[in-house]
Amino acid sequence: MFSITVLVSGGGTNLQAIIDSIANGELKDAGVYIKKVISNNKEAFALERAKNNGIETSVISPKDYPDRAAFEVALKSAIDESAPDLIVLAGFLVVIPEAIVRSYPKKIINIHPSLIPSFCGKGYYGLKVHEAALARGVKVTGATVHFVDEGTDTGPIILQKAVEVKEGDTPEVLQQRVMKEAEHILLPHAIALLAKERA
Ligand code: GRF
Repeated sequence: MFSITVLVSGGGTNLQAIIDSIANGELKDAGVYIKKVISNNKEAFALERAKNNGIETSVISPKDYPDRAAFEVALKSAIDESAPDLIVLAGFLVVIPEAIVRSYPKKIINIHPSLIPSFCGKGYYGLKVHEAALARGVKVTGATVHFVDEGTDTGPIILQKAVEVKEGDTPEVLQQRVMKEAEHILLPHAIALLAKERA
């Protein structure tokens, strides 16, 4: 079996794509299962999605700790406890502490809603990525799955998928298209590739 721990901060549509793929998509029969879902945000709807599917959840919020160091220690122990074969950042908005990156070399992946190296790095997350793409006037954008290293969106690229930018797109419309046509396809596919490789 290949266990994954998924880190989330928001709506959890990428988590849902993994759940759905395990149920009857590419991840079915791939021996992949979600061991735990961890969020820094107790309001994240992604936690509901996990609970609706009987997946263990935990909330590690910076607000609950006296300082950043204590939060990072708690986050690492919550991950270590689940002993995952792979850590998946699915809309997780916290920069992964170096201690965690070092403990899990080539075992942490992230989905970013642009074609890296465009529109990525500090400050580029969520809708801001699509606002920047529209402001620049690109005709093609997309999503990237990459390994997480000590930088922000700088690790080795695993998969990318292009998505057309259409006349009159708003950031919200473009975000939905990138999610549906790229993110929700790429993330389960990347997990399947790594599960097979690890097998
Ligand atoms: C989306 O913008 C996605 O591109 C990025 O995180 C945001 C929330 O995704 N990875 P989700 O719906 O919580 O999976």
